[in-house]
Amino acid sequence: MTKPDAKIVEKIKNDISLLFRHTDVKHEAIRELADLYFQREVSRQTTRMTNAASAGIIPESEEVDEGSYHPVDLDTLLRTQIKLPSLPLIFSQIMDLMSDPDSSANDFAKVIGNDPALTAKLLKIVNTAFYGYRSQIDTISHAVMIIGTSELYALCLSTSVLTLFKDIPSILVDMTSFWKHSIGCGMIARKIAARKGETNRERFFVAGLLHDIGRLIIYNNLPNQAHQAIAYAAHHKELLYNAETRVLGFDHAKIGGRILDKWKLPVKLADVVRFHHHPENAPEPFDIDTAIIHLSDIILNALQLGTSGEHLVPPLNPAAWKMIGLSVEMLPEIIQETESQIEEISNILIPRKQSNQSRRYY
Ligand SMILES: [Fe+2]
Ligand SMILES: [Fe+2]
Repeated sequence: MTKPDAKIVEKIKNDISLLFRHTDVKHEAIRELADLYFQREVSRQTTRMTNAASAGIIPESEEVDEGSYHPVDLDTLLRTQIKLPSLPLIFSQIMDLMSDPDSSANDFAKVIGNDPALTAKLLKIVNTAFYGYRSQIDTISHAVMIIGTSELYALCLSTSVLTLFKDIPSILVDMTSFWKHSIGCGMIARKIAARKGETNRERFFVAGLLHDIGRLIIYNNLPNQAHQAIAYAAHHKELLYNAETRVLGFDHAKIGGRILDKWKLPVKLADVVRFHHHPENAPEPFDIDTAIIHLSDIILNALQLGTSGEHLVPPLNPAAWKMIGLSVEMLPEIIQETESQIEEISNILIPRKQSNQSRRYY
C-alpha cells in the first residue's frame, strides 16, 4: 500500500480522539478497536472508495435550549402517552406450540406457512454462511428438524420485529443504519458466544437485535424530545444515552427493557437490554449475556457499522471484558469473519420500505 497522505492520517487521528473520548483508550480492547478503525479508515480514505474524508464523526451541532427539557417519569408516560407495540399473533401461536410436547415439525410449518413473506425470509437466513448448515434447507419443517424450535422462534421474532416499526420519522434515524447496527450487534455477540462455548446461542442474536429497541419507541412517540437529545449529544459531544437521560429523565435501555417485559420475553433477556450500557448494575452483575452484548455494541460503534443514533463509542466496563475472557487478538478475527455476513443478513432482514436513504436532521 502506498504511504498514506499525512493530512489523512492527521484527520483520522483527530477522529479517533473524538470517537473514543468517553472510553479508556489505554484498555487493550479499546486500543485494538482504535487500531482497527485507523487501518480501515486509512485504506478507505486513501483509495477514495468513499467520500468519508469529508464526513465528520459527529453531525453538525445546532444551538440547544436546555431550559426547554422536561424530564418525565417513565411509568407515567407509559400510562398516558406511550403505546408499546404488540408482537404479531403468530408469536403466541409459536409459543403455544413450543410449550406443547406433542407438537411436530409440521405443526410449526403450518403456522409459519401462513405468512409467506416470513417463511421466505427464514429459509433464506438459515441457508446463509452465517448459520453454516451443510445441507440446503428448503422447508420450514426441515428447518425445525435441523435447527430446532428455539432457534426458529428466535428467527421468527427477529424477522417480525423489523417490520413493527414503520413510522419512525426519517429525520431522526436512518432505519437501514439502525437495523444494521442491531443485526451486527446480534451477530458479533453470537460469534463471541460461540468462541466462549456458550450453548443456546440464538439468545445472543435476539438480545443484540433488540438491545437498542427503546430508541425506536422514543423516536416514534417522543420525536421532539428525541431530537433534543440528539442535538444535545452533538452539541456537547456527549453519549446519546446520557443525553436521553438529561432530556427525558430515562434512556433507551430502560424503556427497551419495558417492551420486552410487555412481550413476555424472558426476564433475563429484558435485563440484558436494560443493562447493556451498565452491566455493573444488572441484578446478576456481569452475567455473561449482558457482558457480551455490552462488548458487541462497543465493537459496532467503534467500527461505525451502522448506528442507532449514537456517534461515539460508549465506555467499556473492564470487568465485563475480563469476564468474557476474550484474547485481544480474537477481536479482528471475529470482526473480519462476521462483517460480510452482517451485510448478507441485513439485506435479507431489513424491509425494503425502511431502506430509505432519507435525509438526516443534521
Ligand atoms: Fe444502547
Ligand atoms: Fe447499540
